[in-house]
Amino acid sequence: MNLRTALRQGSEILASAGTPEPKLTAEALLCHALRRERSFLYAHPEHELTLVEWIHYGRYLHERLQGRPLQHITRKQEFYGREFEVSPAVLIPRPETEHVVEQALRHAAGARRVLDLCAGSGNLAVTLALELNAWAAATDISFDALAVARRNARRHGARVELIQCDLAEAISARFDLVVSNPPYIPLHEIATLQREVRDHEPHLALAGGETGIDYYRRIVPEAERLLEPGGWLIVEIGYQGEPAVRALFGSCWSEPATEYDLAGWPRVIRARFTP
Ligand SMILES: C[S@@+](CC[C@H](N)C(=O)[O-])C[C@H]1O[C@@H](n2cnc3c(N)ncnc32)[C@H](O)[C@@H]1O
Repeated sequence: MNLRTALRQGSEILASAGTPEPKLTAEALLCHALRRERSFLYAHPEHELTLVEWIHYGRYLHERLQGRPLQHITRKQEFYGREFEVSPAVLIPRPETEHVVEQALRHAAGARRVLDLCAGSGNLAVTLALELNAWAAATDISFDALAVARRNARRHGARVELIQCDLAEAISARFDLVVSNPPYIPLHEIATLQREVRDHEPHLALAGGETGIDYYRRIVPEAERLLEPGGWLIVEIGYQGEPAVRALFGSCWSEPATEYDLAGWPRVIRARFTP
């Protein structure tokens, strides 16, 4: 079977099973089976798959049809223009989280010391360390997540120190910028999530307590303890969490503002620590 046929058949199988973006998915799986870039598929449509490539491609298609996320099969996801390793131990970085980076670059461009709480794959800490030319500390409670973050930091040459602890419990240094994309799904919504998320992504990365704001109740006071005066806290929020999270910012915060994502949902809250 040649690449053109493999791509067409793979796309058709995925489409008939209702898999989102069947053609892009088939391309990504075929590239992964061949260990080649996407351009190779189109430069060499007559290339005959070897038996090993064909077996790998078939297995990947089967896994995707079973609901395994594409990124768990390819073990990678792009975030803010860089490729990050992912595994079932970390949340797959989402494009919405790039709004946190954008807000940081716009409002805290001078930050030299950054703290990322709930680091996961390290996508935020690594990106901010590189984009701001800063030093970042990043915490996660999951040892396995930190192992992935450590490989991502090393791979991109980012100055990131990774610390396993409960939020900022082990941190006493001062920072110019604190960011966090904590777990924020209300408990009752977990069962209603897409199966790719519910069955394959770590619940530790998703569940944010009864109403989804448990983590913010701790993050805001921790930021008050750890931010330099004039420093910024920038957090990603769930689509229903905005009023409750905004209410956590007391009089020692100024310029609180909400940023909306491309779908129009409140996505990021930023505020400046002015005690
Ligand atoms: C929503 S994911 C965010 C990952 C990454 N920052 C991103 O934006 O894709 C939340 C992360 O918080 C971690 N986490 C959960 N509870 C925690 C806690 N008490 N202290 C530190 N990290 C925690 C999870 O292991 C998970 O990696």
